[in-house]
Amino acid sequence: GGEAMYTEKVMELFMNPKNAGRMEDPDGVGEVGNPRCGDIMKIYIKVKDDRIADISFETFGCASAIASSSMVTEMVKGLTLDEALAISNKDVVNALGGLPPQKVHCSLLAEEGIQAAIEDYRAKQKAKSGAAAPKS
Ligand code: FES
Repeated sequence: GGEAMYTEKVMELFMNPKNAGRMEDPDGVGEVGNPRCGDIMKIYIKVKDDRIADISFETFGCASAIASSSMVTEMVKGLTLDEALAISNKDVVNALGGLPPQKVHCSLLAEEGIQAAIEDYRAKQKAKSGAAAPKS
């Protein structure tokens, strides 16, 4: 077993995750899955002035995935969308004080979830401006 290798930070966020839960009426939603284990993460964002004004997550996954979700939501809140896109899973792992090597892949969900949420937001913005143009 590779348990008991989590940092205190990981355990703390696993027990008391920040920004957990569904968001009503989000501007963007990203849903990503980890094919290796079947775990799923959903990220909800509200965007204001090109910044992440609010964020929450729902993760059905392991302790690393939940701690990574919680950490990444804290890291990107208030950032511009481009700044948020630049956050990598390595940044998340570092902020967690490290993850056991066999659990590093779990943090990828956090990076991909943010990216998917921002892509969803941008696609919706495009669709909106497209809808404003005359169509036959
Ligand atoms: Fe599935 Fe960690 S084992 S995300």
